[in-house]
Amino acid sequence: MLNHYQLSFPGQIIFGNGTLQRLPEFITPESNILLLTGTHAVKQGLVKQVTNLLNHCTMTVISDIQSEPAIIEVNRIQKTGREKAVTAVVAIGGGSVIDVAKTAAALIPLTSSAEQYFSGEKKITGKGVFFIALPTTAGTGAEITSNAVFINPETLEKKSLKHQNMYADVAIIDPELTYSCPPQLTAASGFDALTQAVESYISRNANPVSSILARNATIQLFNNLEKACLAPDAASRSAMAEGSMIAAMAFSSSGLGAAHGLGHPIGSICKVPHGTCCAILLIPVLRWNLPSCEPRLHELATACGINSAHKFIDALENLRHNIGIPDKFSNYGLDYRHFGFIVRNCRSGSMKNNPREMSDDEVELFLSAI
Ligand SMILES: [Fe+2]
Repeated sequence: MLNHYQLSFPGQIIFGNGTLQRLPEFITPESNILLLTGTHAVKQGLVKQVTNLLNHCTMTVISDIQSEPAIIEVNRIQKTGREKAVTAVVAIGGGSVIDVAKTAAALIPLTSSAEQYFSGEKKITGKGVFFIALPTTAGTGAEITSNAVFINPETLEKKSLKHQNMYADVAIIDPELTYSCPPQLTAASGFDALTQAVESYISRNANPVSSILARNATIQLFNNLEKACLAPDAASRSAMAEGSMIAAMAFSSSGLGAAHGLGHPIGSICKVPHGTCCAILLIPVLRWNLPSCEPRLHELATACGINSAHKFIDALENLRHNIGIPDKFSNYGLDYRHFGFIVRNCRSGSMKNNPREMSDDEVELFLSAI
């Protein structure tokens, strides 16, 4: 385990039922706000709640942020933000909405296009616009992290843009905002959070603090995901929202593993939602990793009340089945013709942190077995 590490989090993290009501505390009356969201939050009345709370401010609403966004999406938001001279960005939605918003908030004061920062041609500098994140799913932890995942639609490359300036100034995690999240999305995003917690714990880059966080997040997510999907109540929703927040605090310093490393190119080329990718991949990735991480996985299993690493993987497989997530990518059309693309595009930081190395040939063999 590493004994040199860095911990960075949003300026303020506020957790608990009803904490949405605290939003006005952080927004001065003369603020000029850009509110970003998706169609779900509009339909469920969540956007109305936010606009009512901030009715003392000038506000522009963009409510058509799509999931799995392309980097070009940020240009439009940047342009609106500059034209309206906004002083704060507020995001209410899932990981995609928050990723677009954190990037736009960092880039609005700058002059170049989002693609130039995404490609590395330009570096983010200065301080972004004040940014508040309000997650409506329990999963990605995007409200906690400083990276955002985008697709380049021409190359189908899916990668992160990351910068210290992309942390939220305030993350408000109100579990009540997840109450209207449908079962399928609760399952996929919840399994993403669980994958993030487990991969953080066994990461090569794990440190003492990330390990404590990842262990606690795993217990909480493992014990509550099925309930939150099949018979959600206030307790399971709260546990999932908190567990996903803690998992993100862990992996933001430890990194992730091969379920995320392989999940990005598979998701991009086969159009599989990120959480579903993680859920399909986590179990075979853990079986592959066992020779290199069995003692660590055994610790995690024991923390969850299971007496072996093997049985823990079986329990994760049962959980995935019980919440209706498929066990293979065959429904999404994954076949050998995609393998070259996946091999070329999987070498992210996540693969480097995976406890067991996977050569290009081993990636192909692994893919042919799932
Ligand atoms: Fe993830």
